[in-house]
Amino acid sequence: MKYRKMGKLDVKVSVLGFGAMRFPTVGEESRIDEPKAIEMIRYAIDHGVNYVDTAYGYHGGQSEILVGKALKNGYREKTYLATKLPVWLVNKKEDMDRLLNEQLKKLDTDHIDFYLLHALNKDFWQKIYSLGAIEWGEKMKEKGLIRYFGFSFHDDLETFKKIIDTHDWDFCQIQYNYMDIEYQAGKEGLEYAGKKGIGIIVMEPLRGGRLARPPKDVQELLEKYPVKRSPVEWALLWVWNHPEVSTALSGMSTLEQVKENLEIADKAEVNILTQEELEFIEKIRLAFLGRKAIDCTQCRYCMPCPYGVDIPRNFYIYNEGIRYDDWGAPKWEYNNAMKIEERANNCQKCGICETKCPQGLPIRELLEMVHKTLSY
Ligand SMILES: NC(=O)c1ccc[n+]([C@@H]2O[C@H](COP(=O)([O-])OP(=O)(O)OC[C@H]3O[C@@H](n4cnc5c(N)ncnc54)[C@H](OP(=O)(O)O)[C@@H]3O)[C@@H](O)[C@H]2O)c1
Repeated sequence: MKYRKMGKLDVKVSVLGFGAMRFPTVGEESRIDEPKAIEMIRYAIDHGVNYVDTAYGYHGGQSEILVGKALKNGYREKTYLATKLPVWLVNKKEDMDRLLNEQLKKLDTDHIDFYLLHALNKDFWQKIYSLGAIEWGEKMKEKGLIRYFGFSFHDDLETFKKIIDTHDWDFCQIQYNYMDIEYQAGKEGLEYAGKKGIGIIVMEPLRGGRLARPPKDVQELLEKYPVKRSPVEWALLWVWNHPEVSTALSGMSTLEQVKENLEIADKAEVNILTQEELEFIEKIRLAFLGRKAIDCTQCRYCMPCPYGVDIPRNFYIYNEGIRYDDWGAPKWEYNNAMKIEERANNCQKCGICETKCPQGLPIRELLEMVHKTLSY
């Protein structure tokens, strides 16, 4: 296993971290297949992984309990344990103490090594900041209940920079892979935090698994290239190629995946990819991006819809399904993460949007198609 310094901290973490969000289950998401999951975590630690990332809500609240069990028998001492404050459940200062105490109990430990404000975006940041989360986090460090204090992030670059500039963070966690160089914090955010010495933990290095199983046309491109690597190896080496990245978390869901990713991690080096190989990955990125069924540029000229339909988001989610030839996450997002009025089937067919669309898209017809494809 290779290890890297976590930014300015005097800590060395394994380049591969274990994301405790995608364990094998028996039936529903909250019923983790305990023997298998424990075997996977311990196998990874026995082979050099020293960073395990869980969160309050993963697997319906069961992930922290499972991780606590897996880290018994001496494994806790070999591991930097990371978990996150579910900021959406915090409405007053005392909630932070209550949630952290609950997490310490679930994890059966007396401290968390890396504690994150979970999934910050503009709204969560504003709320948690005004509730005094930063002072609270520093106080928890003084008390020894947490060692390092950071945040994970899902919003735009501007918000990311603002959060980075507000506090002398120990570390941060961003979504980063070769498809997301201009998405959320992206490459600019990575370099911005890196320059300040803030250790960076990457999540979704395989874009939640979608880069591991590319559609046929992209797979063919990969196979034609003279350097033979699996899609997973290309994607992970690309992430580790960046000097700013301390560890890449993978939410591995089988022991075979753990074994494969451990082998790939042994090859991880900064600047290991040649200029030609980086250009090849850019070609792969463009091939994914070219798989776009609705020619929406996300300019938002069509908005606001008088009935509240979020037209660009509907098209974006649909295009994600086409791009990766994988409808699981898009369907989930459409049916669970969008408000009812924002969904495509709330279109009242007034057609105002079509008069404003610079691409001349038949929006009403397309929204019907989106709903048919994405609704459960
Ligand atoms: N803080 C946050 O807001 C946040 C958000 C997202 C994630 N995270 C954390 O970051 C971690 C990493 O994100 P992620 O789970 O999305 O990582 P990821 O590595 O992008 O995706 C994990 C998925 O990739 C596939 N995979 C992994 N290794 C593979 C291999 N060798 N061969 C084939 N497929 C492979 C598996 O998909 P299949 O199961 O489909 O095979 C696995 O479930 C999470 O587990 C979680 O701990 C945090």
